[in-house]
Amino acid sequence: GIMGYGWMGHGWMGRRHSTNSNILSLKPKKSPLPIPKLLDPIIENGIKKFHLNIQESHHTFFENINTKTYGIESTYLGPTLLLRQGESVEIEYKNNLPEATTMHGHGMHVPAIMDGGVHQVINPNQCWSAKYTVNQPASTCWYHPHLMGKTAEQVYMGLAGMIIVEDEESKNLNIPQTYGVDDIPVVLQDKKFDSSGQIDYSPTRMEIKRGYKANTFLVNGAIEPYFNAKTGWLRLRVLNGANARVFTISFGLFKSFYQIATDNSFLEQPIKLNSLTLSPGERAEIVVYVDRDLVLQDRNTSKSLLYIFKDESIGLVDSLPTQLTNLERLNIHDAKRVRRFVLNMRRGHMAINSKIMNKNRIDERVPVNDVEIWEIINPMHMVHNFHIHATHFEIIERNGSARNVLPSERGFKDTIYMPPRSTAKVLVKMKDYVDEVHPYMYHCHILEHEDDGMMGQFTVVSNS
Ligand code: C2O
Ligand code: CU
Ligand code: CU
Repeated sequence: GIMGYGWMGHGWMGRRHSTNSNILSLKPKKSPLPIPKLLDPIIENGIKKFHLNIQESHHTFFENINTKTYGIESTYLGPTLLLRQGESVEIEYKNNLPEATTMHGHGMHVPAIMDGGVHQVINPNQCWSAKYTVNQPASTCWYHPHLMGKTAEQVYMGLAGMIIVEDEESKNLNIPQTYGVDDIPVVLQDKKFDSSGQIDYSPTRMEIKRGYKANTFLVNGAIEPYFNAKTGWLRLRVLNGANARVFTISFGLFKSFYQIATDNSFLEQPIKLNSLTLSPGERAEIVVYVDRDLVLQDRNTSKSLLYIFKDESIGLVDSLPTQLTNLERLNIHDAKRVRRFVLNMRRGHMAINSKIMNKNRIDERVPVNDVEIWEIINPMHMVHNFHIHATHFEIIERNGSARNVLPSERGFKDTIYMPPRSTAKVLVKMKDYVDEVHPYMYHCHILEHEDDGMMGQFTVVSNS
């Protein structure tokens, strides 16, 4: 039973009340870490097809309470899609919600009409398919709605899932890769519940500015769950799936771990860390050696996220490679131009370059295959970040110097954390998919900011 795994020894019983001090009457369900199922595709004419129902549902966050949620093939969140570089896929979403939605592949390098951004609306009872050839290296990506003005609420209700891209190289690396056993998805979120245990998404104007944050933390939709791990290396694919909260994950001051991947690629070598900060939308793959029970914590709040209990069996992977990959980096000297994105406000709303998102306006036209420097400026006293669709960029400078780029950021990225009053430069190259009509988006991934207008659009245009 549960006592055998040392709940008391971890102080778990004591912690759960402080975690949910706003809802003392609600008892979090003691649950094992939910592992989203790997969705079974069907193969038809060489195409790997997935079908996903987006639906209203009920989920058990608290003992004896049914909480109204949204889910994808599930009561909360969605299944994991496993894709392989080079294969043709068709991901069909059926919208069974009473409202419109979209489904965007965050981190996926796909044509603009397959991006699932604000223009690929799926009305109630309609289907929409993302059809493409997987055209990117191994990475941990995710899917979530992107409907204008409604992204924050729909993600908050439970719409998000993981996409794992694998390739020849990742399959051949001696790293943990048995899904659900030593390679686990870790979707971090925080959520506000009302006194009856229902999800409460009702940001005030001030909470839109600050980002909607709450003090109940979820991993894969469970409150402080536990995971039984074998002795040995455990790989966590960590996604900050929160609307606005920045997490700094850690196993405590004296336990180090290794980061092996950023948003869109492996790091060249594993980076030894004690803590790692992830802003909303960012991913990191980390490996930690389980030789005793561990607690994954958020260092910003000192709260527990996930309990890892060592079981007696021996793990599958016992040593790590020193070299993970060789990255084909862009050259700063090839940069053709600089584009500047200032995260600011306009008439009381969140904006970029003093413009509020307008889905009928193309803000930037980016010639295909040109290397560009995108300079991102956060002049405000608040946290932002910056996400670019379709591309995988390299961070080359923070606050005016290359030396401020952290070792753990030196892989390909699609989302960059922008602390208050900071600047960054990233190298960008739009590699394929010229389409002069249909745009992609860039935006702050604090979802309240995105919905409020801190978003813009670009097309990838031919280069002549
Ligand atoms: Cu994760 Cu444009 O979004
Ligand atoms: Cu995206
Ligand atoms: Cu922001």
